[in-house]
Amino acid sequence: MQKLEVFGANKLKGKVKISGSKNASLPILAATLLSSKKNYIKNLPKVKDIETMLILLESLGSKIKKNGNKILIDNTNQNKTFASYNLVKTMRAGILVLGPLLARFKEAKVSSPGGCSIGLRPIDIHLKALSKLGVKYKINQGYVIARAPRGLKGAKIRFPKISVGATENLIIAASLAKGTSILSNCAIEPEIKDLVNFLKQIGCNIKWISRRSVKIKGVNKVYETTFPVMFDRIEAGTYLIAAAITKGNLRVQNIDPKIIKTEIDILKKIGSKIIVKKKEVQIMGGKNIKNMKIKTAPYPGFPTDLQAQIMVLLCKANKSSTIKEDIFENRFMHVAELNRMGAKISTNGNKAIIKGNINFAPAELMATDLRASVSLILAALTAKGKSIINRIYHLDRGYENIEKKLKKVGAKIRRIS
Ligand code: EPZ
Repeated sequence: MQKLEVFGANKLKGKVKISGSKNASLPILAATLLSSKKNYIKNLPKVKDIETMLILLESLGSKIKKNGNKILIDNTNQNKTFASYNLVKTMRAGILVLGPLLARFKEAKVSSPGGCSIGLRPIDIHLKALSKLGVKYKINQGYVIARAPRGLKGAKIRFPKISVGATENLIIAASLAKGTSILSNCAIEPEIKDLVNFLKQIGCNIKWISRRSVKIKGVNKVYETTFPVMFDRIEAGTYLIAAAITKGNLRVQNIDPKIIKTEIDILKKIGSKIIVKKKEVQIMGGKNIKNMKIKTAPYPGFPTDLQAQIMVLLCKANKSSTIKEDIFENRFMHVAELNRMGAKISTNGNKAIIKGNINFAPAELMATDLRASVSLILAALTAKGKSIINRIYHLDRGYENIEKKLKKVGAKIRRIS
């Protein structure tokens, strides 16, 4: 099992280039299944979840060719509709192949993803919405067995709750349905806009008709394209917070600052000095860190995927702060580990109270999920001495070359087996 060894405390200084978005890449790769042709996807991050999604596509019959950061997905002979538990269990976003397979082949057998450490992660919203397009399904031995013998038919669907994955699955499925669909109460994360841009580029007919409603006119054929995925806004937010915590001076590059306006505004309120340029944000960590009341929310609210990271920063604020986790029911797994480093965080349901003026002490730590594991690195960067972080396979699912990027801006960090 690999571990990370981190020697704190030092300031992060210099430039960091942000990679492509994991959470835009996954639905876009799934959406290539709509096409029986060749598509090139560029700027995919080199992370485990993307590798797993490419293996899943190959198991469905896609031919994958990598040349540099351009990946060819050739679906000329793709015709399988079975997505196995082995692949979906480690990468829950595998459920996103359900929509495109039903749209193209009128049937699919996809492992239901099951829960993870941050919550039950049900897919009821996906399934109920797909049945409105004419899908009949049953759950049998952990698999969703779905069919639409007469093909998918456009429908009006209002999501009962904002769901990123359900919105993505339905936009993809409705793209080849007969007739028009109107989806309302959609998630509007930037990754979903990126997915819609990809779908329009292969010939789908999709139009946002209000803030959270989208109109999709089914088409009966799609074309080929080359598409670069957007930057990873969660990776960008993580490095901005890392600079604020270490009172460093970091230029976070290859990003669109408009997309992370919420995060920038909050970091300014906390006391960081921020200079916004066209494709980069420079952040200088403030001497005093102001306490905050934060609530996670669907985009454009504060992202749940940065909740663990901002919690570490708030441990160093001048007074107590609170964080309310309103998206997932169990996303405070990092609290116990941070408290072992000297934090004083108490939780009650989905609310955390974070005492300020904490000096983290180094420790041997255990990562529990992707974003919790990176919060442990942030705390270790400011703890004087050596920390060890175990189970970093969680980290490798979603952060490309994290120790190389951190080392390049001054962190003393190395991977040990
Ligand atoms: C996506 O997960 C992201 N994953 C998550 O990022 C992110 O935290 C989440 O959206 C929220 O922004 C990818 O994009 C691959 P949801 P997703 O459906 O689609 C409940 C990371 O760290 N729900 O918006 O699974 C669900 O339990 C990951 O990169 C239902 O009840 O999130 C949750 O409480 C972690 N029924 C809430 O809705 C459903 O059918 C939001 O989930 C679907 C969801």
